[in-house]
Amino acid sequence: MKKKIFSGVQPTGNLHLGNYLGAIKNFVSLNNDDKNECIFCVVDLHAITVSQDPAILRENIRETVATFIASGIDPKKSIIFNQSQVSAHSEAAWILSCIARMGWLNRMTQFKEKAGKDKEKASVGLYSYPILMASDILLYDSTHVPVGNDQKQHLELCRDIAQKFNNDFKVEDFFKIPEPLIQKEFSRIMSLKDGSKKMSKSELSDLSRINLTDEEDQIMNKIKKAKTDSLPIPSNVKELNSRPEARNLIGIYSSLTNSTLENALGNFSGKNFSEFKENLSEILIDKITPISNDIKKLLKDKSYLDKTLEDGCEKANKIASKKVKKIHDIIGF
Ligand code: AMP
Ligand code: TRP
Repeated sequence: MKKKIFSGVQPTGNLHLGNYLGAIKNFVSLNNDDKNECIFCVVDLHAITVSQDPAILRENIRETVATFIASGIDPKKSIIFNQSQVSAHSEAAWILSCIARMGWLNRMTQFKEKAGKDKEKASVGLYSYPILMASDILLYDSTHVPVGNDQKQHLELCRDIAQKFNNDFKVEDFFKIPEPLIQKEFSRIMSLKDGSKKMSKSELSDLSRINLTDEEDQIMNKIKKAKTDSLPIPSNVKELNSRPEARNLIGIYSSLTNSTLENALGNFSGKNFSEFKENLSEILIDKITPISNDIKKLLKDKSYLDKTLEDGCEKANKIASKKVKKIHDIIGF
């Protein structure tokens, strides 16, 4: 049986190494396997849960598409589309918001983190965000959802919503219960400045992340300035647990070279960080600069990017609108 893959990325700019190693790299290998049907969505409805400048949002949507293609997703093989252009997503989100329970949403840690201290001022959309995400996934009968570790809880909520709908309306199997696909070895890339914080688009300091549009000298500079400790590189993984910055850099190296943390340590144990950082920079530059160059090239061809989205939307719309019709039928509309 074919696996049906679905994932989404928010068009909020500054796509970084965390997005690449945590999610997009996995999208590419799933796209390359002919046994899969893949759909990758630029989730602009999710992006507006916090305020966005319209002109910048429009450019970021194109940049996200360009990043998908530059990273190796082939729009002829996989559907690449834009969430707001397929109205079924908003429609299903409303219906599923009547299935999801307040108690379930109240447990979502991402909302707590993003809303911060002043929850009263957060948008209602930020709160109900995981329901929209569930709609994205369930509309396409997705069987597998590749995401970074931070989205695991949202996937569990999606499964709960699907199960409750199937039970409430006695339509066993109507919504498929999707499995998360999360990188096993190193699923959370941390800030280069603070090993306890995740690498993020919204972090103020650009030195905290490697952007997928960074040039060679920026990558070199950021790795040189990345926080480490004064001890040499250890020989076993356990020792890394109390050294978050070291663990992060070794983890990035192992993820880029598709090796285990043990193997990565084997190459460098006892050495100091400056030698390791030179190696890491080289590997990063080899991986990131071709992507960065392609993103810039693609961004010059807006009509190609817009056409790619248009084609993707047509395909996505066919699938999603059929599912919404069935939902209407089941609930008695
Ligand atoms: P977002 O940019 O929030 O839409 O995230 C897009 C994808 O990248 C999601 O699957 C996230 O889980 C993943 N992701 C974002 N930041 C990180 C990170 N620091 N480490 C690993 N994965 C990440
Ligand atoms: N919430 C996800 C994130 O911030 C993005 C997303 C939206 C998504 N819809 C999705 C991921 C559906 C997987 C499947 O990273």
